[in-house]
Amino acid sequence: MASGTADLPTFPAKRTDPFGIPREYTALREERPVTRVRLQEGGGEAWLVTGYRQAREVLGSRRFSSDATKPGFPQSARLRQVEQRGETFLRTLIRMDPPEHTRYRRMMSPEFVIQRIEGMRPQVQEIADGLLDELGRRTPPADLVQSFALPLPSLVICEVLGVPLSDRPRFETMSRRLVTAPATNSPDRIVEVAREFRLYMEDLAARKLAEPGDDLLSRMIEWEKVGDLTHEEVVDMGRLLLLAGHVTTANMIGLGVILLLEHPGALAALRADPELAANTVEEVLRHQTLIQGGLRRVAVEDTEVGGQLIRAGEGVIVLIAAANRDGALGSGDEFDIRRGVRHHLAFGYGFHQCLGQLLARVELQVALVSIAQQFPNLALAVPLEQVAVRDDGFLHGVRELPVTW
Ligand code: HEM
Repeated sequence: MASGTADLPTFPAKRTDPFGIPREYTALREERPVTRVRLQEGGGEAWLVTGYRQAREVLGSRRFSSDATKPGFPQSARLRQVEQRGETFLRTLIRMDPPEHTRYRRMMSPEFVIQRIEGMRPQVQEIADGLLDELGRRTPPADLVQSFALPLPSLVICEVLGVPLSDRPRFETMSRRLVTAPATNSPDRIVEVAREFRLYMEDLAARKLAEPGDDLLSRMIEWEKVGDLTHEEVVDMGRLLLLAGHVTTANMIGLGVILLLEHPGALAALRADPELAANTVEEVLRHQTLIQGGLRRVAVEDTEVGGQLIRAGEGVIVLIAAANRDGALGSGDEFDIRRGVRHHLAFGYGFHQCLGQLLARVELQVALVSIAQQFPNLALAVPLEQVAVRDDGFLHGVRELPVTW
């Protein structure tokens, strides 16, 4: 990590190994798991938390706020520019603190409980089979991101929200634009696609009002009718679910496939015994932790974390990618699907822990087992070094995954 003007390490550090974490983070985790850093994007300073125990302390404490409008919140400069243009991406749930957050979370949680999500498994399998059948009919090579990893979670969210079949091609195009816009680095482009999606959600909400179905959007409209949600909140929540659940799962599918191709023993074991799916997915999530830019908070009271005083108003970045490779978790840099560590932080920790994690797990389990079994000769069509890795400093993943079979 290069030194900043105030002799502080700068964040983020440059990645040298696309599928590992920068060495600087490992060194910090060992020596100073809570440390002050200078932020490259937008300047300013924040605390960087790289240790597993310390990460849980911050994420599990009400003394740290998720409200990006609070002074001192370490918001990325790009997102700040977008919000200044009046089109906030994440105005709801994920950026709220208790007790306001608790009210929304209570409303949404029943939608993502295990019975409901396990009930969706056959539909997820059907969607995956349909996409893989189509892929199998093509002549290799093909891009697994465009043909499978991106459309699978998008179609699953369509099921959850109740997007009609006739709208799906349009929804797919729009959601793809929405989830890829942040990587373009253009605030204008982000605002444009966020607005396009909002207009679509408003139109869909109006149709659901006239003709309700057995879906989450129709239920949210019922909550709107009794005054539990405003119309804006319904639209924002729909947009959050798409954003939080689409690109995350898509990137994880791509990374999972690469990890398995790079570990043929693990791939063969999974192919032979689909019971290994749950452990495999946990290990993929831990090893290739998606949110590279860390989870962001601001302290609302003076608090000690790992013996370090963090003062009210100071920003904190919890680097779950580094914490997930902390020896305290019983696992480090190596990938081992038989370990199945469950208490990793890939879905966060505490009251903001991922609402859609059970759904993401089902999607990932179905995706990886289906590919392993239906494409026994799957291989990368280019050397690993040529796979285009996302490099926007926020999410980890691959832009394209050319494969043959
Ligand atoms: C592999 C896929 C996924 C990963 C790695 C992931 C990761 C995360 C993480 C780390 C957080 C915590 C953010 C924080 O503490 O600031 C989070 C929150 C959230 N996720 Fe996910 N997520 C995934 C899939 C999904 C899916 C499929 C959905 C919904 C369909 C979803 C919906 C949400 C929502 C609504 C929140 C906010 C929860 C709250 O603030 O209470 N996520 N996710």
